[in-house]
Amino acid sequence: MNLSGKKILIGITGGIAAYKALELIRMYKRAGAEVKAVLTDNALEFVTPLTVQTLTTNKVYINNFDTSNYSPEHISLCDWSDIFVIAPATANTIAKIANGICDNLLTSLALAYTKPFLIAPAMNCNMYNNTITQENISKLKNKGYNFVEPETGYLACGAEGTGRLADLNTIYLRTVELLNPIKILSGKKVLITAGGTVEKIDPVRYISNFSSGKMGLALANCANNMGADVTLISTFKADVSYKNIVVQSAEEMLSAVKSEMDRNDCIIMAAAVADWKIKNYNQQKVKKTDADNWNIELVKNPDILKTICNIRQNNTPIIVGFSAESENLLENAEKKIKNKGCDYIIANDISKQNSGFGSDYNEVYIIDRNLNKIFIEHAPKEIIAKSIMETIFEQAGTNIKVGSVCS
Ligand code: CTP
Repeated sequence: MNLSGKKILIGITGGIAAYKALELIRMYKRAGAEVKAVLTDNALEFVTPLTVQTLTTNKVYINNFDTSNYSPEHISLCDWSDIFVIAPATANTIAKIANGICDNLLTSLALAYTKPFLIAPAMNCNMYNNTITQENISKLKNKGYNFVEPETGYLACGAEGTGRLADLNTIYLRTVELLNPIKILSGKKVLITAGGTVEKIDPVRYISNFSSGKMGLALANCANNMGADVTLISTFKADVSYKNIVVQSAEEMLSAVKSEMDRNDCIIMAAAVADWKIKNYNQQKVKKTDADNWNIELVKNPDILKTICNIRQNNTPIIVGFSAESENLLENAEKKIKNKGCDYIIANDISKQNSGFGSDYNEVYIIDRNLNKIFIEHAPKEIIAKSIMETIFEQAGTNIKVGSVCS
């Protein structure tokens, strides 16, 4: 992807992930961008100005009161750049930006910045999960700041949780998207389902599955970035700017999908729908008895994907299903596309480590009705989502009349 002529201002704050910003600078430079870097004092504990200067081939900006330039730097750097990317962004810097504090050059730039803004947080998981940080992030998102969510895994501090700087490819790709806002799905309506349905046993108990909803959310965000009018039907409340209908059970999801389906050009069923529900929901909490066993009778849930494929007219909207398999991936997925009657099936192997259910990563096959297959290799779900959207909308273009991309 060519970034030739683009001017990227990268902000580096004081976290251990600061060293990764160096590679990000190289990625931007390799793609032809011009890069300038602004560092906080704490960032200097982790990376040296000489390294950053050598990689950016530009002066490094650190403090507010440099007299070498008659124009205040927080204004001149804003004017100069096309995008401001803060990677890594500490909890401290996020908190300052969210509250309009500008006590160093980086935060002064942030307050004065009016162009696309991208923040990639990195911190200890407890700092990240703290509601104060989460509220700061939500506040900034609501004001239009873009975020690349941190990953979950082992952190430099020894803890395990969410807080590791996002994969550099993801940050890079998001930068490219923000710099090239080609809205190839402009005018298109896309409905996406996400999350695992919850089937209640009584007011305190339920059965469900391990789906995190991350793949569906990544698809919805991607479609939104591509300019589509997105409706996300999910089993969790998503912090998004587009329409989000929250449901719990498969029955609720079916009725929401049915009522929305006609206004959409494409439906992607990424939700993990429970195949079974409790036959007789208990209105009151079931009390523990002396019995060693409790037999719960289950009855079949509706198959949402199959139902909407059956009731659609003239093969519209385009319908995409997922196939979550722990064995015989392709064989089962091929059976599923035929049995459900959808146009594409996205097959993913949920038994793989660091992939699929609950993970930030995935690897999938996109299978069409003629059983042609495209393999999308292991990557963050945001990147998988982009590949899926591009493949489906390019291939199915004539049916869903996607403007420029297919013409
Ligand atoms: N699906 C659905 N309604 C159901 C079950 C699944 O709409 N009651 C959809 C899912 O959203 C997914 C596709 O069907 O797009 C395949 O789901 P999956 O769980 O892989 O397969 P199942 O049809 O449930 O079959 P099995 O559990 O036997 O693999």
